[in-house]
Amino acid sequence: MFYRITWLALLSLLRRNDKDVIKIYDIFGDLMKTTTGGNMLNFGYWDKEVKDPFEAQIKLTNMLGTFGSFFNAKNILDVGSGYSIPALKWLAEYPNLNLCCIDINYNQIIEGMHLLKENHKLKQETLRIFSVINLENRLFHINSTSTFLAVKNDTMDRIVAFESAHHFRPLKQFMREARRILKRLGFLVIAIPVIVNNSQGSRLTNLKDLGILKITWASEHYELEFVKSLIEENGFKIDEIRLIGSSVYQPLASYYLKNRTHIRNIILTHYPNFLEVIINKSMSRMKRASENGVIEYALFRCTKY
Ligand SMILES: C[S@@+](CC[C@H](N)C(=O)[O-])C[C@H]1O[C@@H](n2cnc3c(N)ncnc32)[C@H](O)[C@@H]1O
Repeated sequence: MFYRITWLALLSLLRRNDKDVIKIYDIFGDLMKTTTGGNMLNFGYWDKEVKDPFEAQIKLTNMLGTFGSFFNAKNILDVGSGYSIPALKWLAEYPNLNLCCIDINYNQIIEGMHLLKENHKLKQETLRIFSVINLENRLFHINSTSTFLAVKNDTMDRIVAFESAHHFRPLKQFMREARRILKRLGFLVIAIPVIVNNSQGSRLTNLKDLGILKITWASEHYELEFVKSLIEENGFKIDEIRLIGSSVYQPLASYYLKNRTHIRNIILTHYPNFLEVIINKSMSRMKRASENGVIEYALFRCTKY
């Protein structure tokens, strides 16, 4: 275990390819599950009602569904779907929806499918799988990369990349695929961590200060303006950009710092002490980066014309 974690820390400093991203999520996914008690892999949206990370993740999942007008969609492609928990939540919320989950990580796809099969049997409250009518005919899985999607042209009403597009390389190729697959007037919906205020310091300083994001963020650290221009260059019209970083990074870090003793004890049952020390430090850095306006969390809704 020690070597796996050291290797993870090293990987976070190096340039990464898709295989490295898969390995990082094999380890990081377990860590997230251990600390949150659930199977979602996003940072969550924290408002006054939210009490823990899982509630924040549910809130962000719901927010994305509303933001992306899922209520009047029929077919959705979720690229970078993780363990398919956001997909299950959307299917429970919108009864007319069919959803196809795509992820590059085979283990996550398999575990997502397993959760589906066992859905009715699961009693474990922390998994909190939602009750979905006719699930087996509405949810599908593909193990694939974001840049070559085995989906027919002009078939989807929505394509969603929920905290996953920062891993896609080249991001341009994903945009092209999204444009090909979406129906006319369909929406591309992206939730993505971005760098904003790069002019205030050297790029190196900013990257050092990314905190916990440095562990999961691929070597391309996309800037807000870059993502905007890429979307427009690839034939989409941006309808709305919502910047929610202050309700994502800062409260998550505050939650960690406030509950550190408890979370530390959970982490130490599976991981070495030094990993918790790194996480703790990274949380403070991430909070500072957000307060200083270096990082943002952007929601994009874009129409294909
Ligand atoms: C932060 S997790 C988010 C997972 C899920 N959307 C959620 O909110 O629980 C990012 C996911 O993107 C997937 N991913 C990374 N690179 C990918 C790629 N090139 N193509 C498809 N999926 C990718 C990872 O395996 C991981 O499951």
